[in-house]
Amino acid sequence: MKLWGGRFEEGTSEIFEQFSGSLDFDKRLISADIRGSQAFARALGRVGILTETEVQQLVSSFDAIAEEAKQPSFFEGATDEDVHTLVIRKLKETVGGLADKIHTGRSRNEQVSLDIRLWLRDEIDAAKSEVAELLRSLLAIASKYPDAVIPGYTHLRRAQAVLWPHYILAYFEMFSRDYERLEQARARVNVMPLGSGALAGSGFPFDRDAIAADLGFASVTRNSMDVSADRDFALDFLYAASVTMLHLSRLAEDWILYSSEEFGWMELGDGVTSGSSLMPQKKNPDSLELIRGKSGRVFGSLSALFMTVKGLPMTYNRDMQEDKEPVFEAAGQLRGSLRMAKVVVDSAKLNPSRPAAAAAESWVVATDLAEALARNGTPFHSAHKIVGRLVLESTRIGKLPSDWTATELVAFAPEFTPQMIELMNPLAGMRTRELPGGTGPQSVSTALDEAERRIPHE
Ligand code: ARG
Repeated sequence: MKLWGGRFEEGTSEIFEQFSGSLDFDKRLISADIRGSQAFARALGRVGILTETEVQQLVSSFDAIAEEAKQPSFFEGATDEDVHTLVIRKLKETVGGLADKIHTGRSRNEQVSLDIRLWLRDEIDAAKSEVAELLRSLLAIASKYPDAVIPGYTHLRRAQAVLWPHYILAYFEMFSRDYERLEQARARVNVMPLGSGALAGSGFPFDRDAIAADLGFASVTRNSMDVSADRDFALDFLYAASVTMLHLSRLAEDWILYSSEEFGWMELGDGVTSGSSLMPQKKNPDSLELIRGKSGRVFGSLSALFMTVKGLPMTYNRDMQEDKEPVFEAAGQLRGSLRMAKVVVDSAKLNPSRPAAAAAESWVVATDLAEALARNGTPFHSAHKIVGRLVLESTRIGKLPSDWTATELVAFAPEFTPQMIELMNPLAGMRTRELPGGTGPQSVSTALDEAERRIPHE
């Protein structure tokens, strides 16, 4: 069955049918398509195209189709052009001629926009909950080791000491913003397009607000051409998904390194790692590597949709059928990766002595010393130079920060005071960073409390 054909004298080429059909992938929209069509039937009732009995008949037939669609065999052998066509064919098989009225004043151009919006809204809600779950797990592993000291890195070189929860809270901030971005994308998605017709607005005086209310949309779109032409609501989602994946990928990269023998900071659970078919000793962080790997596919989906839409003349063009696969792909990878990341975080154990040793045996205290000199009146540039020389000298003679005594320090440069020897312990320097946003133990404990309250409760 086709939703068009009167104007044609010859049949469609089989190759063209296969090439242009979208049922293989847009079948995922079936429940959205049915929900939308039920609301549309009620709208047709309100404008007098359908009687109340007809509306009821259509609505319950749609329910039956939705039920039937749960069977795996439902799509078997279907050759319909797309999911919208299939649903109408099924309707026709159930209610006969009455089905011919369902498409009155409606175009697939607005229908496809509606379906993607309905589908995406549910996916975003699910992804938001998964981000919230991840935030909860991050907070748990942050609070589990409140005093653990790790070297913070820049250029992957030991830079300054920070508390483990401070490091984890950095990711908490990133994922909190991802949650907001998903929420913002949802607001753009949550606008009701029906009534737009193919591009010029429907020829029937639908109460669009009533359709929006029926389907739980916050508002209605304002321009019918915009509806047929644009997919920026999907791009907003793909961007939000991409940034979330970017953050997941960086967390994955960190923990792949931190759980390696070279770092030895943490142990990932057996349940999220795999062995080697050849090397019996291996315990590989495949879960994290796959999260990192899948992020590339999500960024690819964002680029793909950008490319699809960028050169299209107003309004709808069939190119736009290519919008769905990137959206499905990104949503699937995003949600899978979020769930995986949560399980990895829950499984991970920190071995605090290793990062503490890494901090102690390096010069992460150098900045603390230079700042102490500056607090005592030495201009910072001179202080920087003095400590730089101290590090150079120590490296030359193989001396660690903890090997220095107060007397030796003062002897090295008169600007040092005996009390400054305390700063050779990284914890002392961290205590000077008690401003909001810093790694001072008090600041971090306040940040942890605040984070607890900031986890979104749905
Ligand atoms: N399957 C089509 C799509 O996803 C539905 C819209 C078809 N509209 C059209 N004018 N051919 O874009």
